[in-house]
Order: sequence, then C-alpha cells, then structure tokens
Amino acid sequence: MKMKGVLLAGGNGTRLAPLTKLMNKHLLPVGRYPMIAYGIDRLRLAGITEVLLITGARSLGLYAEYFENGLKHGVRLTYRVQEQAGGIAEALELAKGFILPGEKFVMLLGDNLFLDDLQPYLRNFNKQPAGSARVLLSPVKDPHRYGVPVFNAEQSSKIDRIEEKPQQPQSQYAVTGIYMYDDAVFQWIERIHPSARGELEITDVNNLYAGEGRLEYDVLTQWWCDAGTFESLAEASLKMKNVTL
Ligand code: G1P
Repeated sequence: MKMKGVLLAGGNGTRLAPLTKLMNKHLLPVGRYPMIAYGIDRLRLAGITEVLLITGARSLGLYAEYFENGLKHGVRLTYRVQEQAGGIAEALELAKGFILPGEKFVMLLGDNLFLDDLQPYLRNFNKQPAGSARVLLSPVKDPHRYGVPVFNAEQSSKIDRIEEKPQQPQSQYAVTGIYMYDDAVFQWIERIHPSARGELEITDVNNLYAGEGRLEYDVLTQWWCDAGTFESLAEASLKMKNVTL
C-alpha cells in the first residue's frame, strides 16, 4: 500500500534562541541544506511522494520559496498552518483530511535527522492490523531527555508504555520522532488532554495504543539525532557536511 508522509516543522524552537528569532528551527542550516530538507529526502527515498508539511504562519513563505510544490525535490507538497505551538499531537490533528479513511502514514518530526532507510520499517508496519501504531527507537546515552519505552515482558515486539523524559529511565532507548499510524490516530488524539507543559503530547497518544497492545517498534541501526539543541545541531551539521541530496 502506498503511504503518505506528514512532516512536522512547527514549534517555537526556544532552545535554539536567538537563532530562531529569525526563522523557524527547521529552516536552520545543517550541512549544505535547511534542516527540513533531510526529512523530505528520507520520505522520498522510501517511495513516499504525497507529503504534508505542517508549520507556523511566520516562516511558511520561506518553506514555499525553498520547496515550491515539492516536485523538484521528488515529492508533492501540501502545506498546513499550525496557528500556535500546542504540541505534536495538536499539530498532527491538522493532517485530518489529508490522511483519508483507511490510509496509513509515517510522521516525521522535522528536527529528527537520521540515516536509516525507512522502507523495511514501513513494510513491517504494513503487516500490522488496522488501528495499530509503530514507533522507531534509537539506543542513546541520555534517555532521560526523550520519550523512553518500557517493553512488554511477554511479547517482545510490543511496548507496554512510554515514559516522557523520565528521571529513572526503564531502558536505554529513545522513542524517535518517527511514528507510523493510520487515520484511527485522530480518534485517539481527541481523547487526550494538555500535559503539564500545556501541550497535546504524542506520548499520551502512543500510550493509548500501548495500553491496548497496539504499539510495536523497530530499532534504528544507524545514526539518529534530535537537532533541537545547539550541541545536537552542531553534531548534525558535522555529520551531514558532505551529504548532497
Ligand atoms: C518529542 C517527544 C519525545 C521524543 C522526542 C524525539 O520531545 O515528546 O517523546 O523522544 O520528541 O525527538 P520534544 O522534542 O517535543 O521535547
């Protein structure tokens, strides 16, 4: 089945201020390109050509200037505006209507840079039943900075729950910003409430799936980074300095 892609590029990027006073985080340079170009390229390489890009109004024109309709970059782009930064799950809600009933899709957080080919993971997700979800994990030294999976003791392919930025992580993995769902996700988003930081958290959505035994995973085998801090942005730039898309 041909899947669609949703690329999230909103948020205030406060951890990267004052750089983000000038433009949206996902347009900052990484190697030779604006950060977001890598996400588009990962989708294209996985054979995904219908892509929804969600961002704030402020930088929308810059995205359109860079990508236009996407065709020169191998995808067909649709743009939607998130009016205020209300969390990943709130942004995802804007994909309603772009994702049609019964359709499966992959969502990428635009600041997540990685080298793995997505295709084997999409194939695994395609084998899962309707109404289930899949996340990709990466082994990390500092899991407390991320969503951290707690594995199901009996069914090794499943995640029991995800703890968001736990003080005592139950595993050495980060849940990366690479998520696979079908249109059933929009019903789950309606059931969650804003977290302590006032956002609709994607981890809360994923935990609804996990609670029903419907959340599976793969582990990335290559480099992955969330380029949302100065340190990781510098790491990503170094890693990508010779990459041409
Ligand atoms: C978000 C998710 C977190 C995930 C991370 C990956 O965190 O909430 O579970 O591990 O993205 O980049 P945020 O960057 O919004 O703090």
